[in-house]
Amino acid sequence: MSSAHYQALEPQTSDEDNEDIERRQCNSRSCTASATTTTTTTASHPPHPMVRKGGVARRRCLVPLVAGALFFVAFCYLTLSGDTRLALGLGGGAEDSEELSHHGLDGMNFRPLNETVHICSESYEDRRQFMQDKPQSEYGQLPVIYFVTPTYPRREQIPELTRLAHTLLHVPRLHWLVADDQEKCNGFMDTLLHRFGIPFTHMVSPMPSKFRNEKPAPRGVANRRAALQWLRQHNLTNGILYFGDDDNTYDLRLFSEIRKTQRVSMFPVGLIADYGVSGPVVRKGKVVAFLDSWVAGRRWPVDMAGFAVSLEYMAQYPYVNMPYKPGYEEDLFLRSIGLQMNLIEPRGNNCTEILVWHTQTKSKKLGMVRLESKYLDDRSNLGALLHNLKLMGVASTTESEGRDALISKNGKEKPHSKILS
Ligand code: UGA
Ligand code: MN
Repeated sequence: MSSAHYQALEPQTSDEDNEDIERRQCNSRSCTASATTTTTTTASHPPHPMVRKGGVARRRCLVPLVAGALFFVAFCYLTLSGDTRLALGLGGGAEDSEELSHHGLDGMNFRPLNETVHICSESYEDRRQFMQDKPQSEYGQLPVIYFVTPTYPRREQIPELTRLAHTLLHVPRLHWLVADDQEKCNGFMDTLLHRFGIPFTHMVSPMPSKFRNEKPAPRGVANRRAALQWLRQHNLTNGILYFGDDDNTYDLRLFSEIRKTQRVSMFPVGLIADYGVSGPVVRKGKVVAFLDSWVAGRRWPVDMAGFAVSLEYMAQYPYVNMPYKPGYEEDLFLRSIGLQMNLIEPRGNNCTEILVWHTQTKSKKLGMVRLESKYLDDRSNLGALLHNLKLMGVASTTESEGRDALISKNGKEKPHSKILS
């Protein structure tokens, strides 16, 4: 999350959330939600076994329910390990439960991901011979970095991915998971990814249509979820997961830093929101708090690019998830893997250096070139060039809209027929 454009988490509409909101009214001084403004809806998925059921009836059978719940909680605490309790969202200690309930976010009910993963193409072959002046063979023992890039079609997509690839080309032992936010596989992108020679998996995972028109929309979430599903399906318990958006700028030292990750690494991200930075506060080598201009109840107020997770650690959490909650993706993901403050490994010289920048590319709408289609043949380069630009989603041709394309010679506009016939 990078900006203050997001609203603090709204009261949710499930029955379970009513309970959260009630608790917030009773227990928290800063709580603003009103129980009367919420409605009850039915979740589209079967509830997690831990989800409390109820409604109006709940109040009538409060006593047996409370007794049952108490018994259940006691049972869980006695029988489950600390990690499992965290994975189930039951909290891991006094500090944990206090902070979570304070912001009404502890009711998030994480479920195992159940995404459809549609692979367009993939390659496990590393065709790079040298990386950073060393032959590939010298890197054989390093854990693999699974670099997850959500991306979406717009005119800047191919240039962004090209620039990012040229960074990743220097990084040994990396598998690039490129998850495109669209229905259909883009063949042009397949060719591009193959050409780089970096091991990759190209998948499509469109944002569900119900979120498309929301403001803000959960950007890059469907794609990251699909990538998480892919990691799960491959039962990977060795390696490092990093979420690397297509428009950020990555320092090569980032990769050697995150490769050391035992559980969860964190480090500052430059160019975030009002402070121009977001990241951990470190004292005596330990993360103790966070500096970020937008807190909004987030326990882990960090940017997506500001952490890395070891797959061995993540594998312990069957309910790993990234809910569709704009602004809260990082926080809820980190909660779903039971993160605790004392597990965080500060990187980048104890979080004093910037290894990743939240650069943003100015976006413009598709270019439009007005040119008669009879000239889009091989008499000139323009047919093939404009065809390629169309495949890349950069520019389109039209015969009727706007002004005729300017074609000039010696500083003077020339009729298309003069140059192209
Ligand atoms: C910030 C964070 O850095 C993102 O990690 C976070 O997902 C995002 O905010 C958010 O919370 O919405 P920001 O630069 O504001 O990022 O967002 P974008 O760069 O536009 O999008 C983040 C990623 O999602 C990019 O890799 C982008 O290609 C992808 N995306 C964006 C989609 O896949 N679909 C979209 O409709 C928009
Ligand atoms: Mn971005």
